[in-house]
Amino acid sequence: MTVTPNSINQMQVVPTGGSLGAEIQGLNLVHPLPEDTVQGLHHALLSHAVLLFRGQQISDEDQVRFTNYFGQAVEHVRKQMPRPVKEIFFVSNVEKDGQPIGALGNDEIPFHSDLSYLRRPGTLSIIYAVELPSTGGATQWCNCYAAYEALDPDLKARLKGMRAVHRHHVESQNPPELIDHPVVCTHPETGRKALYVGPHLTRHLVGVSESESRELLGTLFDHMSQERFVWTHDWEIGDLIIWDNRCTMHRRAGFPSAERRIMKRTQIFNDAIPYE
Ligand code: OGA
Ligand code: MN
Repeated sequence: MTVTPNSINQMQVVPTGGSLGAEIQGLNLVHPLPEDTVQGLHHALLSHAVLLFRGQQISDEDQVRFTNYFGQAVEHVRKQMPRPVKEIFFVSNVEKDGQPIGALGNDEIPFHSDLSYLRRPGTLSIIYAVELPSTGGATQWCNCYAAYEALDPDLKARLKGMRAVHRHHVESQNPPELIDHPVVCTHPETGRKALYVGPHLTRHLVGVSESESRELLGTLFDHMSQERFVWTHDWEIGDLIIWDNRCTMHRRAGFPSAERRIMKRTQIFNDAIPYE
């Protein structure tokens, strides 16, 4: 009897036990995914926000095919050195001939939602671990639904209608105009509200004094960083993670500059502008 690779009944969704995230077992991403398996994954992603696949040995083309099940993989807005598959973006501190092969270096990166400095930010991101340092470089995700829901009612009321400016610290990355988004966004697929600010890319709140903005954002950043909302992933080579930027923030721990870390990333945008 022949078994269809990656059929839905081979797939298992194992929640991490943390505030978000699930491991998907039983799928080999070298092979295409049947439609009902894609639907099952989509459903799992909406439920768990972050999905981990372990032990994958995939090519760039496999990663792009997997990405395209969830939308359209696009060439990243940041320019990178020429590479065989243009949708693959390198997140790496490695240098070749004195030039970085990728982005994001080796320092810690605080909580953020990818590309929130754009009017139409990224929706889903996928990274695949190719080479890892011996220590450091773990990635953490925050459940921004749970963080929002746990705010006290007075604070929720204060945030209603409030907007925040998002801007990349590398000025050339930014669009010419100042981009703002609601502090609390509604997920277009689940209809649930999630906190949409983070210390890496959110600059200030609109329409309040600088000190009020600093105080309020500080409160929110401390709140979302609580362990009860956060899940940590210690990477192994062959891990692939897909996450939903509309209801999570993520951050990465630093690692020694003398060590190498290479991750391959693909990115999905959609046309939606975040709304409250
Ligand atoms: C990213 C990112 C974290 C990591 O690719 O957007 O934040 O662990 N990466 O490399
Ligand atoms: Mn990121």
